[in-house]
Amino acid sequence: MKPSELKKFEVRIAQIAPLASQQWSLWVHCEDHQLPDFQAGQFCMLHFPAWMDPVLPRPYAIVEKKDQMYRFIFRVEGKFTKLLASQSKGARLEMLGPLGLPAPRPSGKKVIVAGGVGLSSLMSLLQETEASDLLFYGVRKDLERIRMEFPAKTLLASDDGSCGFQGRLHELLKAKQDLWQDAAAFYICGPDPMMKACFHVLPKERSYFFLEESMGCGFGICMGCVVQTKNEDFPKKSCVSGPVFRGDDLALW
Ligand SMILES: Cc1cc2nc3c(=O)[nH]c(=O)nc-3n(C[C@H](O)[C@H](O)[C@H](O)COP(=O)(O)OP(=O)(O)OC[C@H]3O[C@@H](n4cnc5c(N)ncnc54)[C@H](O)[C@@H]3O)c2cc1C
Ligand code: FES
Repeated sequence: MKPSELKKFEVRIAQIAPLASQQWSLWVHCEDHQLPDFQAGQFCMLHFPAWMDPVLPRPYAIVEKKDQMYRFIFRVEGKFTKLLASQSKGARLEMLGPLGLPAPRPSGKKVIVAGGVGLSSLMSLLQETEASDLLFYGVRKDLERIRMEFPAKTLLASDDGSCGFQGRLHELLKAKQDLWQDAAAFYICGPDPMMKACFHVLPKERSYFFLEESMGCGFGICMGCVVQTKNEDFPKKSCVSGPVFRGDDLALW
């Protein structure tokens, strides 16, 4: 993307509220401009206008667009998200986006595999699912589960057994292989170890991984987000060639 094509917005928080343990829902609106439509896989870089620490903006998946507002969901992890969770309605943010390439959408049965707040990157896809599609959703404990209804049939896993299958998502996937083996596409997002474990269970040529590499700029300048892919002399930049990569293209795990 050329710098002249970048869409930068000054937005204000329209609503910010806890959604589940450590996870918050954030709606932003822009008074001066219409927010563009987006497609699943795309994200925005968010930053505070006058804050120096953290210096760099952070990328967040766009969850939903409604009434000229974008919704994001974030988990409180470190510097940026602690500050964000302390903000109130009306606070200003700088927003760059939508960025990144939309996720490929082959037709046929979809299987969504979400670990923790990775659900947010997959939520716009989930809203378009059908009853024959599947959501495998793993959390550490039930209190961390985002309680939202989707058309897809949901199978839960938790580390402590407080909801659904007790164990890791890739173990649940292995146990339920008869339900998903005919699927056309798998969409996976979550912590790195979870995505790696799923990478070794799912058919790579039908699997799309939503990578959450650290990003400095979000539009191809800083080289902060490079990903090693197969059949390429140079690593690809996740912000412009991703953040969604097909399993058989990745040389990561
Ligand atoms: C394309 C893309 C989309 C993203 N979408 C979302 C989203 O929708 N919701 C969301 O909450 N986050 C999302 N992230 C991650 C987000 O950009 C930040 O990395 C995260 O919010 C932590 O920022 P921080 O400043 O609070 O923590 P930092 O101060 O940067 O880090 C604090 C600690 O948390 C660890 N950490 C950082 N990021 C993660 C992570 N993703 N998972 C686990 N541990 C981490 C660090 O290693 C460090 O130890 C996305 C990332 C990418 C690349
Ligand atoms: S985040 Fe800067 S090049 Fe990708």
